[in-house]
Amino acid sequence: MAVVLPFETNEPSLDALLRLVKPDMDRVNATILARTGSDVAMIPEVANHLISGGGKRLRPMLTLACAALSDYRGEGHVKLAAAVEFMHTATLLHDDVVDESDMRRGKLAARKLWGNEASVLVGDFLLGQAFKMMVEVGSLTCLDILSTAACVIAEGEVMQLSAAKNTETSEDDYLAVIRGKTAELFAAACEVGAVLGQRPKVEQGACRSYGMNLGIAFQLVDDALDYGGSQAKLGKNVGDDFREGKITLPVVLAFRRGDAEERAFWKRCLEGGASDDAALSHAVGLLTKHRALSDTIERARHYGAIAKDALALFPAGGAKDALSEAVDFCISRAH
Ligand code: IPE
Ligand code: IPE
Ligand code: MG
Ligand code: MG
Repeated sequence: MAVVLPFETNEPSLDALLRLVKPDMDRVNATILARTGSDVAMIPEVANHLISGGGKRLRPMLTLACAALSDYRGEGHVKLAAAVEFMHTATLLHDDVVDESDMRRGKLAARKLWGNEASVLVGDFLLGQAFKMMVEVGSLTCLDILSTAACVIAEGEVMQLSAAKNTETSEDDYLAVIRGKTAELFAAACEVGAVLGQRPKVEQGACRSYGMNLGIAFQLVDDALDYGGSQAKLGKNVGDDFREGKITLPVVLAFRRGDAEERAFWKRCLEGGASDDAALSHAVGLLTKHRALSDTIERARHYGAIAKDALALFPAGGAKDALSEAVDFCISRAH
């Protein structure tokens, strides 16, 4: 039997993934910093505010790990991983404007310091830089995958806008939104790694499926954390979704499982905007009563299992193990 030292934990982490891609990731981080440069001083100022706030860098690590899984030996993965993180950073800048969020990565959101206009425009700059890097890599297939992802992310965000404040939103509607706004970028990030490695179509598809299902699980957990997480760990305010009237799975479940009085409460808060702190704690009580948060995590576990099974095609090894542990981390994460 293994001896477990008191300071060891069995909690899944991103450490294995980090170790696997460390030398490449150092180059990705250097590329990210270099590519925020502009003579227009406000651009690096705003971009570096958000970038220096850290972030998990999960999506670029997935690109690097899928390139490793595919035995890719070239250089293109570094720029593509940086491009993927820029697409993510740009969507965060835009998303905080759309969601009127005040905190991001433990700091004031860029829009609170420089305004909505600057956030949107610097997001556009980062998207432009992302596409320049893809062109430099020169794979038309990767450019196709990532530009499609940019469209699908925007579609997901717009779909969500249409569903906002509508308590009739179904679980299927919700899934369509999160596939678009979140999972598509995870899928693309993974797929381009395998495309660079010139793997057979079935393996490229397996990497894409891993990313897609991991992305769905990731957003499900994020939506549970918006009610049940800690602001200090998340680096963003909890309760934002409730205050905005965003219909996420915890609400879809509690609304459907609730009685007439409870449904009237959800409508008052989410459709009518009566969402103060007292209402938020009542909402959390209802989510708990109907097991809506734990069932959201259960759903995440299901998609996480699909992600892991998608990797079954690949031989055992460090890259596969790291990608598999990343799934467990995303499901048990608190940040
Ligand atoms: C935040 O993504 C946006 C969502 C899809 C929920 P992350 O939680 O990966 O953000 P950072 O990059 O670590 O800050
Ligand atoms: C995450 O959106 C997806 C994108 C940024 C496109 P959310 O609005 O759910 O994520 P947070 O809570 O702001 O990180
Ligand atoms: Mg948001
Ligand atoms: Mg949003």
